[in-house]
Amino acid sequence: MTKSRDPGPSRGQLDVGDLRCEGLLSPRLVETRSPRFSWRMRSSARGALQQAYQLRIREVKTRAGGSSTFLETPRIERPDSQWVQIEGLNVSPQSRYEWQVRLWDEQGRDSGWSEPATFETGLQGREWRGEWISDGRKVAVGDAPPARYFRGRFAAKGSPRRGTLYLSAFGVVEPWLNGKRVTEDCFIPGWPDYRKRVFYVSYDVSTLIQDGDNVLGLVLGEGWYSSTLLFDHQYGPTPMVSAWLELVDAGATPRIVKTDTTWEWSGGPIRANGLYYGETFDARWKNPLSPAAGAQFGGWQPVTVERKPDGAIDARHSPPVRVVEERLPVEVRATDRGSQVFDMGQNMVGWVRLKVQADAGEVVTLRFAEMLEPDGALHLANLRSAEATARYIARGEGIETWEPAFTFFGFRYVEVSGVGHLRPDAMVGVVVHTDLPRIGEFECSNPLLNRLYANTLWGQKGNFLELPTDCPQRDERLGWTGDAQVFCHTALYNMEAGAFYRQWLAAVRDSFEDGPDGGFGGVAPFTGFGRGAAGWSDAGVIVPWITWLHTGDRALLSENFEYVERWVRLMQESAPDGIRISKGAWGDWLAPGFPPEAAPTPYQLIATAYYAHSTLIAARMAGVLGFADRAARHRALFETIRAAFQAAYIDEDGRITSDEQTAYLLALAFDLVSPALRSKMAGHLVGAIRRKANHLATGFIGTPLLAPVLSAEGQTELAYEVLQQTTYPGWLYSVVNGATTIWERWDSWTPEGGFNPAGMNSFNHYAYGAVVGWMYDTIAGIRLDPHHPGWQRFEIAPEPGGGLTFARASFISPYGRILSEWETVADRFELTLQIPANSSAVVTLPTDDPATIEEANDHFDLKTAVLSDRAPGGRVRLALNAGVYGFLVRTGRERSRGGPAGRADAEIR
Ligand code: BGC
Repeated sequence: MTKSRDPGPSRGQLDVGDLRCEGLLSPRLVETRSPRFSWRMRSSARGALQQAYQLRIREVKTRAGGSSTFLETPRIERPDSQWVQIEGLNVSPQSRYEWQVRLWDEQGRDSGWSEPATFETGLQGREWRGEWISDGRKVAVGDAPPARYFRGRFAAKGSPRRGTLYLSAFGVVEPWLNGKRVTEDCFIPGWPDYRKRVFYVSYDVSTLIQDGDNVLGLVLGEGWYSSTLLFDHQYGPTPMVSAWLELVDAGATPRIVKTDTTWEWSGGPIRANGLYYGETFDARWKNPLSPAAGAQFGGWQPVTVERKPDGAIDARHSPPVRVVEERLPVEVRATDRGSQVFDMGQNMVGWVRLKVQADAGEVVTLRFAEMLEPDGALHLANLRSAEATARYIARGEGIETWEPAFTFFGFRYVEVSGVGHLRPDAMVGVVVHTDLPRIGEFECSNPLLNRLYANTLWGQKGNFLELPTDCPQRDERLGWTGDAQVFCHTALYNMEAGAFYRQWLAAVRDSFEDGPDGGFGGVAPFTGFGRGAAGWSDAGVIVPWITWLHTGDRALLSENFEYVERWVRLMQESAPDGIRISKGAWGDWLAPGFPPEAAPTPYQLIATAYYAHSTLIAARMAGVLGFADRAARHRALFETIRAAFQAAYIDEDGRITSDEQTAYLLALAFDLVSPALRSKMAGHLVGAIRRKANHLATGFIGTPLLAPVLSAEGQTELAYEVLQQTTYPGWLYSVVNGATTIWERWDSWTPEGGFNPAGMNSFNHYAYGAVVGWMYDTIAGIRLDPHHPGWQRFEIAPEPGGGLTFARASFISPYGRILSEWETVADRFELTLQIPANSSAVVTLPTDDPATIEEANDHFDLKTAVLSDRAPGGRVRLALNAGVYGFLVRTGRERSRGGPAGRADAEIR
């Protein structure tokens, strides 16, 4: 421990920043009249606390470009800095606002006004002005047709001040104005449940509008609407688009330019497109939206005006999909088939940017794969029916650069054929996903765990493309609800994903149906695959709850609670005696050694456990929302289900009939065992793990619970051991076999048997990566306090073990950066912590004796910080305010113990 960590008694700088409106940076489509505001106090001072704040909002006038004060609050004596609602605020639709905040710290110091942030409001119920246009064709199921290029002309007078483009589509669109792309956002406006709604987005296009004639263009691809999704699912055969521009010329009143009968369509260079299919681009066509294109081939034709959609046109709030990073290939190999295979060195999702010189009409074919066959050929079997091919037909005019627009691939390897050998720099890997701020980092002394962490992060990137998907490469890529619920705790540590989940939950609610076969969908947006499956349908309850705990955004509860209750009611109707039979379920999917749906944990047991779990969460939600009677009613129902579960499955020795890991994990994680039998049951769980030579035996349902439950039962050391197994089945088995993402199966590939012969075999499925949540919350020890959602108060309780000599995690919470970094050196345990301003933490140290603890700052008063109630195992707990701390604990040989026992983290799971 060095004294240099000591920030000293000086107060340091006080500042306020990271302003968010409705949880988003500069949102463009705020749909509520009274949006909520969040900011971060920035101060390195120990004990920094916001004592009061003041907020001011100015409306930026559209016409004159000036601004006027709209609202200024008095100084408000409160510490709130997240999701703050302003009394009397009532913003107008289609307006732009600037806001600032100012705060005072616990010593009365004034931060001064923050830098201004902006927000804009959406239509807020105002009428959608554009008509819906198409080219009038119908796309057959399984077909990948050309993209359509639409254009409309308008004149602008003088120097225009402002143009706002509103855009919606059944399909995916690339908007252009006067030959320039309006935005780098991809796959807009996104993927809702088209049966019920379509999204709209808006862009400020002021700088692209020119004096005189203007051409607004829209390239329309099939996207999720008309592409054939798994099992021949198609929402509709005719992609359609609707757009309007609110245009304010100098001195004139706003005018509307919109898609209507005056628009025209043409073919263009994208000759075929489809999500699973890929894309074919014929560069001999010029982009018809570029001014130089002139009339080509069939020329321009009148559009068909389609019927207005029945469903809602809703603002899209989740951040867009974008190109987030680029990678160069690490190796290029020539094959004996005359082609070349480029290796990106990482299983990734997106596409490649190709630079090629070829004769006019020459076809360059790109095939994408996650793995190679032993002979170096691409392993394509696991793509199933997805053609996943890009074809570029050269223009024959020197070096040509191209990348696709309306498809994506999950791949590490790209095979290029049809053109002579390319140079290694002919290709750049383009990583594409929903552009969410990365907020978490983890590192420790075991490089294999670090690789597991990185693989999980890559899994998240690849499967956070528009919404949480199962996999990004084969003919699937759907919003599987079970996968999403097991991974969401981990995901929220890695990325700022609150708005992303909130948006997706609209599709989860849309998937819901009442009735005996009802519930939330197996996938959302719903494309089939049934409803009500245990562990999948429950995502409609679990995802809002966990996202609320991480973000503190109450909207997650208020928007979803009605559906949560409907789901609980539905289960109650079909399980009057408490034991639930889940029809059409998947069980402990993909448990090692069994066919996918034949894992040993009884379906009924899983369904009953999840029924209890969802009911308990419903009770907690009701409590937070202030519905005391409902909270009591749901809790009583939980007790009934728990009693039924115990009677049906648990014997007087705490043993469960199936006597295997997942059953015990469910009972312990979901609080279904009586306190008297708890430790006996934990013993049976340990026995079940020992029988597998300290390996896991769990599938999608059991795996995410394994490490957290072991830690909660004082078995952290065993959790470390299972986690660090490099032999099958275990998390590091894929790592030592070269994985760069998380595999769908524990044995997706083995050195002895090669590829798993099953068709369903993805190499980028994040579900098993859910253990990363435990790496943050137990190895590094950065833990939510469920009674203080959104990290206003949290815990730091690292549990060193597993032979690790150091671990470090940092996480940018809504209040700022949290850091927990520990190192064990001989008989010393050193812990560096950062607790952000205006938040506080309870810190648990691995010692039962306060006398062994020192802190870097001489002014630190240990006695005042020590709490009288100890953590399990007698470990010392300290209550700490904001600041950077450096602790040293003299552990001594005689003091070292196994993992501490028992934690109350059932509310997080
Ligand atoms: C998906 C899974 C999903 C499962 C349902 C698979 O095809 O890829 O991740 O949860 O079906 O059992």
